[in-house]
Amino acid sequence: MCGIVGYIGHRPAYPYLIEGLKKLEYRGYDSAGIALHFGNSLKVFKKAGKVAALEELMNGLEQSTNIGIGHTRWATHGAPSDRNAHPHISRSGKLTMVHNGIIENYAALKEELLKKGYTFHSDTDSEVLLNFIEDIQLNNNCELEEAIRIALKRVTGAYVILLLSEEYPQTIFAARKGSPLVIGIGQGEHFLGSDASPMLGYTKEVVYINDYELAIIKPDELILKNLGNERLTPFVQKLDMELATIEKGGYEHFMLKEIHDQPEAIYDSLRGRLDATQHQLTLSGVDSIKDKLLAARRIIIVACGTSWHAGLLGEYLIEELCRINVEVEYASEFRYRNPVIDERDVIIAISQSGETADTLVALENAKSKGATIFGIVNVVGSSIARLSDAGAYTHAGPEIGVASTKAFTAQLAVLQLFALKLAQLKGSLDERITQELMQELSEVPQKVQHILDTQIDIIKKIASKYKDARDFLFLGRGYNFPIALEGALKLKEVSYIHAEGYPAAEMKHGPIALVDEQLPVVFVATKDRVHEKIVSNMQEIKARGGKLITIVTEDDHTASSLSDDCVQIPKAHEIIAPLLSTIPLQLLAYYIGIERGADVDKPRNLAKSVTVE
Ligand code: M6R
Repeated sequence: MCGIVGYIGHRPAYPYLIEGLKKLEYRGYDSAGIALHFGNSLKVFKKAGKVAALEELMNGLEQSTNIGIGHTRWATHGAPSDRNAHPHISRSGKLTMVHNGIIENYAALKEELLKKGYTFHSDTDSEVLLNFIEDIQLNNNCELEEAIRIALKRVTGAYVILLLSEEYPQTIFAARKGSPLVIGIGQGEHFLGSDASPMLGYTKEVVYINDYELAIIKPDELILKNLGNERLTPFVQKLDMELATIEKGGYEHFMLKEIHDQPEAIYDSLRGRLDATQHQLTLSGVDSIKDKLLAARRIIIVACGTSWHAGLLGEYLIEELCRINVEVEYASEFRYRNPVIDERDVIIAISQSGETADTLVALENAKSKGATIFGIVNVVGSSIARLSDAGAYTHAGPEIGVASTKAFTAQLAVLQLFALKLAQLKGSLDERITQELMQELSEVPQKVQHILDTQIDIIKKIASKYKDARDFLFLGRGYNFPIALEGALKLKEVSYIHAEGYPAAEMKHGPIALVDEQLPVVFVATKDRVHEKIVSNMQEIKARGGKLITIVTEDDHTASSLSDDCVQIPKAHEIIAPLLSTIPLQLLAYYIGIERGADVDKPRNLAKSVTVE
């Protein structure tokens, strides 16, 4: 996701800014830019692509100033391009701004500004906010900080913004809500960053800005205020982290960080789309191919690996809620087996990277036969996103760990939205149930957080107990079957233990032969319509000496008393519960991988983006 840097003081700003942007590259981005304040004029330099491309652009250009801001952009509104890169410049040319986050009500604000004759040079929500601030300053004839405060009170969404103004050659204005901002304090200078990594080596004293705070930063003064214009005392903290740790947000591995990112990733994927209090679902991608979807003779979901597991859950959801026939296909098989497809088919493509070669070619084949493609993709502007006729991005942020975690739960969240929206359009679901599911879906981020807050120590003990197992079996039924498959894949990937996922009842048709005292069997057994059946399957394993590790709903005493080890998750509707039951399985795989000394972030033989077949 976007990275932000800023400098004001006595040394040349540019080296700090460009090096700082490089330190933030790990966050993932697709363009970079810098704005420098030359006393009576502002200059902006920006470029799609890597920071190195920006550096090349800056070669030989005037850089000698002590104040500037910089940004790496991970596209959300508008494709990765020079014009959408930050910093943006206001209509008058007197303000420039970088922004990290999403302004949810940008469309309404843009509408207001368009009526006043504003024109826009990018597709971003950020440029709208910048002009909104300028418009307020002009109309109210007020100080810039006052205009920022007024604007931010009207904005919904998340932001860190840094602003430079021609009028204030010795000031950076900064504010945050939801996205991170750190200010490093030096002697007559200040360093800004999305995290502390750019300022390591310059200062050990930092202030973490809180939500709804506005910072007015001069070389030798940091003024902190709330949006009510009251002065606050900055809380200065000592920085005692190594660079490598900070890049991972304080976590030992990207995989662990990304597991912990999930409450936010799921929230971001629902944000602006699901309003449970107003009973509103907005998924413009679905609306744009509404006629195709309503007339579709079937939906085919095409994906690979973890994304295929998300697709399997999608099949269960869409068939149940929308009463449309759904098939789920491994892209690598689908592309070579001459499937029967025509213009009455809708294909849902699921991919984190948006670049998986098998998925891409399978889609090209289907498209050439007239099918409509709906993409559920994490990387904006990726090949699959561009090929799709319509779609809904998952807003999981960049996923760096090779084993997919937060991208998977974000895919599940978007599939839930897709199924609910289509059910609404079709009228296939009772309105009361739709509302109940919308409410439950909106509660998922805090329930995931609850699991992270309460179950990790239990999972660590389970990991340590079973780390030497040679094989694992993962069993689930109904909505929990795809989660069992995903749990087995995660364990395989990051621990190199052989693991198989199976439908729990199918186990007695073969895999039960594997069961003995050495075999840990993980049951994903949250309360649902087949719960009694899966409890019987647990008994069958127990009777043969297998070790039962269970993921159960809290207060389920029957299942937990049968278990050798048990992880409890909050109550949820059976359709929503997979978003929760997957979290303990990711943690189990991670901690077993760690116990065995595996490279969990970059498991052997695996690539993050599989661009070859
Ligand atoms: O980028 P995609 O979602 O298209 O990738 C598909 C698979 O390669 C991916 O999910 C893979 O299985 C991961 N290593 C799972 O952790």
